[in-house]
Amino acid sequence: MCRDYLVVWNHNVSSATSLVTRRNPLQDARYDLPNSVGSMKGVYDCKVAAHTYEAPDVYRLILSCSEIACQAQPGQFVNVRVSSTTDPLLRRPFSIQAAHPDEGTFSLLYVVRGRATKLLAGVGPGETLSVVGPLGRPFNVDCPNDAVHILVAGGCGVAPLHFLCASLISRFGPDRVIVLAGAQTKESVLCEGDFRSLGANIRVCTDDGTYGTKGVVTDLLWDILSDTPSDVKSSRVRVYACGPREMLREVARICREARVESCQVSLENFMACGLGVCLGCVQKLRRQTCPGTDDWHYERVCTEGPVFEASEVIWD
Ligand SMILES: Cc1cc2nc3c(=O)[nH]c(=O)nc-3n(C[C@H](O)[C@H](O)[C@H](O)COP(=O)(O)OP(=O)(O)OC[C@H]3O[C@@H](n4cnc5c(N)ncnc54)[C@H](O)[C@@H]3O)c2cc1C
Ligand code: FES
Repeated sequence: MCRDYLVVWNHNVSSATSLVTRRNPLQDARYDLPNSVGSMKGVYDCKVAAHTYEAPDVYRLILSCSEIACQAQPGQFVNVRVSSTTDPLLRRPFSIQAAHPDEGTFSLLYVVRGRATKLLAGVGPGETLSVVGPLGRPFNVDCPNDAVHILVAGGCGVAPLHFLCASLISRFGPDRVIVLAGAQTKESVLCEGDFRSLGANIRVCTDDGTYGTKGVVTDLLWDILSDTPSDVKSSRVRVYACGPREMLREVARICREARVESCQVSLENFMACGLGVCLGCVQKLRRQTCPGTDDWHYERVCTEGPVFEASEVIWD
């Protein structure tokens, strides 16, 4: 299964960090390929085990690859080659939605948006796709046992949060995990059954009110946080979010206002190489060492991300 075995142990995380603390990412480019979490990533030929319709323009793809299934961590993604020709030229990144090491499979959940995802939707069970992964830095789940975890998903942003939810529930139990999922309409609500079968406490909202609460998912977050005592928010609440950029920006603002100690966002910046080489995916971040100053730097979403502390992200 493993073809053209690629890249590396991350034996030197600090060199990866020093790589990106510079103002202009187009200067001083270095082409090494650190893996921020110390796992091995590779190029794999993955057989399509199942490919199912989930909602209008949304599909779930289950791929066989025990290497990725065993190593993947919540928040990581894979880079998929959707065609054997050069059209489209670039692989496309997708978050890992679930990993089943016992079965040697992992799942992706994707929306058909353009050329690559249209082609992907036409791939059938038994066919093979070339996949690079697992890539990127996962969610940080290092926290006290009594923390409360609030997962905020907008649209297909449920994908990495479903994997995270499974991991948090197996570690801390279902009572400590709340999922807030927003969609445009009833028929575009994603993964509700998957979250419920994990035992998660899930609240759904839709823009048009056809299912769950009418409104946007950030309203649900604000409702919960405004009912939570401030000492709990500042010491025990952990927020994790994935979805449209505007939603993430609002989640970050709400968490800052509510003085939530930790809010992690998973960014979906456009990517080219997915391996830290091209610098096409960089994100402007505040320097942690200088709180209150305008000092900033770039980091690569594909290698230092896609998960970042929301308080560091500069959203412009
Ligand atoms: C780390 C990461 C994880 C991702 N996880 C998922 C996932 O789990 N499920 C999923 O459906 N998509 C995910 N995406 C986005 C996915 O990569 C794009 O939808 C895909 O590349 C579109 O390819 P395309 O050729 O079909 O569309 P294109 O022709 O490239 O684009 C079609 C339209 O989609 C928009 N678009 C393309 N890429 C993005 C993007 N990254 N963010 C927002 N809009 C975009 C374009 O602006 C354009 O309007 C992820 C992206 C990243 C960086
Ligand atoms: S550096 Fe190429 S996509 Fe991130």
